[in-house]
Amino acid sequence: MVRMAINARERKGTISRYLYGQFAEHLGRCIYEGIWVGPDSPIPNTEGYRTDVLEALKNLNIPVLRWPGGCFADEYHWMDGIGPKSQRARMINNHWGGVEENNHFGTHEFLRLCELLDTEPYISGNVGSGTVREMQQWVEYMTFDGESPMAGLRKENGKEQPWKLPFFGVGNENWGCGGNMRPEYYADLYRRYSSYVRNYGDNQVYKIACGPNTDDYHWTEVLMREAHWLMNGLSLHYYTIPSGNWFASKGSATEFGVDEWFSTMKNTLFMEELIVKHSKIMDKYDPEGKVGLIVDEWGGWYDVEPGTNPGFLYQQNTLRDALIAGVNLNIFHKYSKRVKMANIAQVVNVLQAMVLTEGDKMLLTPTYHVFDMYKVHQDAELLDVEFESPMYKHGSQLIPQLSVSASIDKEGRIHLSVCNLHHAVSASVSCHLEGAEGKEISGTLLTHSSLNAHNTFHQPEVVKPAKFTGAKLEDGQVHMELPPASVVVLTLK
Ligand code: AHR
Repeated sequence: MVRMAINARERKGTISRYLYGQFAEHLGRCIYEGIWVGPDSPIPNTEGYRTDVLEALKNLNIPVLRWPGGCFADEYHWMDGIGPKSQRARMINNHWGGVEENNHFGTHEFLRLCELLDTEPYISGNVGSGTVREMQQWVEYMTFDGESPMAGLRKENGKEQPWKLPFFGVGNENWGCGGNMRPEYYADLYRRYSSYVRNYGDNQVYKIACGPNTDDYHWTEVLMREAHWLMNGLSLHYYTIPSGNWFASKGSATEFGVDEWFSTMKNTLFMEELIVKHSKIMDKYDPEGKVGLIVDEWGGWYDVEPGTNPGFLYQQNTLRDALIAGVNLNIFHKYSKRVKMANIAQVVNVLQAMVLTEGDKMLLTPTYHVFDMYKVHQDAELLDVEFESPMYKHGSQLIPQLSVSASIDKEGRIHLSVCNLHHAVSASVSCHLEGAEGKEISGTLLTHSSLNAHNTFHQPEVVKPAKFTGAKLEDGQVHMELPPASVVVLTLK
């Protein structure tokens, strides 16, 4: 029996809703087909956006959406994507499959999508192959209210009023696809480019510098030392790869056994170490915690589905992905003092997606269901949970079996999310509530008897949330029996 205690008086700060951010890149079938089909498509659409995808995503209360990349961002020239569609420049998407990009989805289409989803835009600018002037003009185009060359151009293109632009990334992975730079060089470029990302009128841009790849602590050290006072956020990219090897097979999304299940859980938990170590460096230069750590790319990354374009990063999504999502979100909550935003990669048809599409069909992935179940934590107050997790042993390796997070929302409801990482062993938990009186308990469970269970276009509801009947409330204690390989969210009121 695992003993747990939640102290409702011990508030640990707000779990920013921005931890539930998403990412949409011009990559494979994410934007084209997945989101944008155009108004003349036979696929039911709203102003050119797939209606089914819009509806599904609206339900997730997505707080922020990152665009247009990714690696694509540092090759993207925004002026190619404005004006009449028939006159927009065609280009090659060099990073992702070498396919044609017709620029039919540009600034106006992205910002309208954000309006339709009631989400805030986070745009990544081009440092790798773009000019300072180009970046300055983009921000002016979107946000300047008044007479100016860029505001005039925006008006000519049909948008009288400026948009709000709350988040702007100054480059992406500039240590890699964004220019193969050294941190010293990028830090100087960041200082220069970010100077021209201006706040027009009352629009305040939260500027995000390109941060480290995984455990490149030197990058964080240099960026913080050289430019921390000029940035609001520093990004971090870390993907869970079952094999742990970028350069060989990453592993199949669906064909895996217990070894790969375990290594996936272990590699997911590595996110905590990364956050702790990067935060320690950030603390040195920014003890007040003004600069947010922005985990703007995370999620499971596997070999692409057999027969699909390797440059499209299309992969299936199983119960294992549900655990990756739940564990990462619990980690982000725990470090929400420093981690101010996170964006799972990516929203539709790419990597660890929320939804997959095929023609006019769409399915919700197990990851979608976790985001749906967890959305109750958005902007709630983080609570302290005391417990010692039993260990999950595989061969000679050990990791914690349970990942837990609790919050209290504005209405005083307590939400507890628990992931049981063990592939075969259930967990009995008895949770004591301090400073709150739970009278009613309800819960949702996501699990399956098969570890690689997933939804297909023929069987779209193989993995879906069910009412959780394994919890009861007795004398102020919550008793629960968590099935193996499961994600549970409980609400107490
Ligand atoms: O999300 C896919 C790619 O992964 C992004 O374009 C890039 O930033 C990262 O390497």
